[in-house]
Amino acid sequence: MTIKVCVGSSCHLKGSYEVIEAFKEVLKKYDVEDVIELQASFCLGHCATGVTVIYEGTEPAARGPQVEETPEGFFIHGVNAGNVEELFATEIYPKLGVA
Ligand code: FES
Repeated sequence: MTIKVCVGSSCHLKGSYEVIEAFKEVLKKYDVEDVIELQASFCLGHCATGVTVIYEGTEPAARGPQVEETPEGFFIHGVNAGNVEELFATEIYPKLGVA
């Protein structure tokens, strides 16, 4: 599974760097660094709802209001350093099969 965090100009201004650092901490905390590849991405085309994250893999668990399914994968909108762990724990982690 791959998680891509947008580092385009709009998302960068909204805190992409902090989101990436928060994801690094969360992946380490949940001991899934070997399961999930974390990448930076150019603009994902959803600048107004950034920071935008796309993840490729299984369908998200909860499909909360910040999640959107597209042909490219599952987008999570409005990600910030303060909600990374909650989004990871509810949308991604339950589907990893490592719990
Ligand atoms: S800059 Fe992040 S979606 Fe466009």
